Amino acid sequence: MAEVIVVANREVAGALVAEAVERLAGERADAVLGLATGSTPLPVYRALAERVAAGLDLSKLRGFALDEYVGIAAGHPQSYHSVIDREVVRPLHLDARRIHVPDGRSLGIETAGARYEDAILAAGGVDLQILGIGTDGHIGFNEPGSSFASLTRVKTLTEQTRRDNARFFDSIDDVPLHSITQGLGTILRAKRLVLLAFGRQKASAVAAAVEGPLSAGTPASAIQLHPRATVVVDEEAASQL
Ligand code: GLP
Repeated sequence: MAEVIVVANREVAGALVAEAVERLAGERADAVLGLATGSTPLPVYRALAERVAAGLDLSKLRGFALDEYVGIAAGHPQSYHSVIDREVVRPLHLDARRIHVPDGRSLGIETAGARYEDAILAAGGVDLQILGIGTDGHIGFNEPGSSFASLTRVKTLTEQTRRDNARFFDSIDDVPLHSITQGLGTILRAKRLVLLAFGRQKASAVAAAVEGPLSAGTPASAIQLHPRATVVVDEEAASQL
């Protein structure tokens, strides 16, 4: 079972994970961080931004985002390219050339997954992967039914995920139908996983991921296969454990 840490609130969680990232960067300035999008990891990025403002240098850090929408321009404000740039690269003063996001433009999409896998391997793999979790148990955009051996590829988003993410768009019709996401196999290759979840709406997905059977129906249950997986949750997200 993954190690579970229940914290008082998301700020405490953010500080905890920021501490782990700082330690990693202290050991190796060009360590490789796995970046998640969504609202969940924001307290981590905020805590890191404060440390950077206080003098921490993360400019050598390398990073790989988990996923990207397919079919929206990289410059769209809700593309994960834009989100990573706005919420991570700029506030943390990272070097944009060292930060990678899967290429979700439709042109060349059939080879984009393999190219991304090659880039991660060439970097020596991800040292610390930050993860959120969808209400349907997805990690990255690995929706229920994803193979535990899957690598970066195109996935169709579920109706539930599109509804959940509609808040970032003008309407649900604007939420893309597809994504390109690191696979569960890609994620499991990271040397360390930290999954964060906050709020009651995540409680059943967290319980299924941490204590449920290993099942493609709950993609996040794949973390049970990882020797160094930590789950950081608030009391609401832990309420069904
Ligand atoms: C999104 C992302 C995931 C994220 C999840 C939860 O669709 N692709 O990486 O973990 O859904 O999002 P949030 O943190 O906003 O609840």
